[in-house]
Amino acid sequence: MELRQVIGNRRSIRYLDPDKPVEIEKIQRMLEAARIASHFGNNSAACALVVHRETATDEQIACLHSPVGGFQMKLAPVIILWYIDGSALDEAGDRLRELVECGAIGYGPNKRKELEETLVPLFSRIGAALRAPGMVDMDLGQAVAQSTLMAFELGLGTCCQGSADWEVVEKAFSLPENARIVVAQTVGYPIESADAGGQRPRLPFERLFQLNSHDTPFPRSETVVEELTRDGLFQEPAPRPGREEEIEALREKYDLPGSGMI
Ligand SMILES: Cc1cc2nc3c(=O)[nH]c(=O)nc-3n(C[C@H](O)[C@H](O)[C@H](O)COP(=O)(O)O)c2cc1C
Repeated sequence: MELRQVIGNRRSIRYLDPDKPVEIEKIQRMLEAARIASHFGNNSAACALVVHRETATDEQIACLHSPVGGFQMKLAPVIILWYIDGSALDEAGDRLRELVECGAIGYGPNKRKELEETLVPLFSRIGAALRAPGMVDMDLGQAVAQSTLMAFELGLGTCCQGSADWEVVEKAFSLPENARIVVAQTVGYPIESADAGGQRPRLPFERLFQLNSHDTPFPRSETVVEELTRDGLFQEPAPRPGREEEIEALREKYDLPGSGMI
């Protein structure tokens, strides 16, 4: 499948088979994809703790419950807790040195001296700000996006989940002081149809993207839209016929409660 088709076919999958285990190697493949995502300054602060429902304690599973996740935490055989390791930013200087050493950043003949006098002190000066929600969360998002596409390629379904109280979860899974969970990702084999009821709505392109000035929408070429539609980036919009019946049947089969899922 072409990348554009992969992106077009990816959906948040909320209905996962609770009885079908996920091969640990598939989870590894997701994590491998996450590891090579971009991080600012190559800081590698994006980490994950994998929760295996079968072997986690009841208390651990119970604390994952979230009003916005509804039944999803109950179904998923695997839940990945994606977190920022704040202490990674303490090594920001070393990560920059590695980038120069491996030839990613061109600094000319005095590259080491240049780096030590410019970026390294800058990163250490703004260290606290780098740890705060913002850039590092963006890094984590990139990692999760790559792991999501890998999961899709492996036939798995995933959905990101928020929580009302990550601190409780951080404690239950013994994460260190400087760890901050950003999002949980449910993982399993889909029990819903492959198109998951169609592509979910988005705001109009013109409202989201601009060129040079905020009052100038980015010009959207219909030819490009047609090409991407032909190639599968754009799919049939949700809801597809029969979606409500499909959800009702799943809710009945798995005894699922109503939920405020988003
Ligand atoms: C950071 C993040 C948090 C999310 N949290 C939840 C959540 O708590 N519960 C849920 O059902 N979906 C959650 N979602 C999934 C979004 O609702 C979903 O991406 C959106 O509706 C678009 O659907 P799609 O991913 O199928 O295109 C989350 C997505 C992201 C990126």
